[in-house]
Amino acid sequence: MTTITIHSFKGGTGKSLISVALAHSFSKDGEKVLLIDGDYGAPCLDSFFPKKGNPKPFPSFLKAKAKLKEVVSETIFPNLYVSYAPPPSFGEEIIRADVATHGRYLKRLIEGIEVAHDKMGFDKIVIDNSSGISLPAINHLSCSDRSVIALRPVRYGVESTYNLIDTIYKKLRYVGSGSVRQDFILWNQVPVNRDSSIDPRVGDYLGHWTKKFADSGISYGGTIPYMTEVVTAMIADISQDLPAIVHQIQSHIDELKKKII
Ligand SMILES: Nc1ncnc2c1ncn2[C@@H]1O[C@H](COP(=O)(O)OP(=O)(O)O)[C@@H](O)[C@H]1O
Ligand SMILES: [Mg+2]
Repeated sequence: MTTITIHSFKGGTGKSLISVALAHSFSKDGEKVLLIDGDYGAPCLDSFFPKKGNPKPFPSFLKAKAKLKEVVSETIFPNLYVSYAPPPSFGEEIIRADVATHGRYLKRLIEGIEVAHDKMGFDKIVIDNSSGISLPAINHLSCSDRSVIALRPVRYGVESTYNLIDTIYKKLRYVGSGSVRQDFILWNQVPVNRDSSIDPRVGDYLGHWTKKFADSGISYGGTIPYMTEVVTAMIADISQDLPAIVHQIQSHIDELKKKII
């Protein structure tokens, strides 16, 4: 089983869209997938997968108030299961918990991943992480075999993301399940010309930073252009339209899958 965390330094880089598209894509391959909403400050999975009833949120498991299976919900898509975050007002409590508490949550997280694999038969776990450096975000990274850092080509975002590498990525590479985590950058919302080509100046910029990241041990995961179709699809009715939304970036998600697995 592989656990993949989608992270970024800044918000709005496409973490949630990429998490949903990746999880959906694995499930279509016939793999049993658990998609966890790990962004306690800005949860969003219920807008992609409307809740049925009143499912317990994932932190109930972290707090040892529920078993893993009690925080896992079916979706209308075969093989695809989700675990919701609590409403942001309750999520705050998780974000603000102290280091010792998060230490316990990390232990639960690692145990939960084992249960997901051994007892529940999951093949992939995808975690939609919060942006930046918070204790929950660090825990999610720590228990993952892979991370994908979504990145928009915006100068302050790129430099700050690069600074994350030494601050946390290198330090946390060997924590968790014992395997060495592999990290990838995924350029998203890249501006393209009318003919869909990337402006050479943008291409040079991406190439320059892709190399810098690679030299720091973060592999290239791909490039997704800015697509107005994605924005439009997000406005239309949700859930039933999820395949229509992820379809827009499907070829890029397929490329990403080849690189990370
Ligand atoms: N490649 C893209 N082209 C156009 N819009 C995109 C693209 N990727 C993401 N978006 C849009 O950008 C916004 C932020 O994406 P989201 O997945 O919510 O980011 P995050 O979870 O990192 O905050 C959403 O409205 C999403 O539809
Ligand atoms: Mg998000």
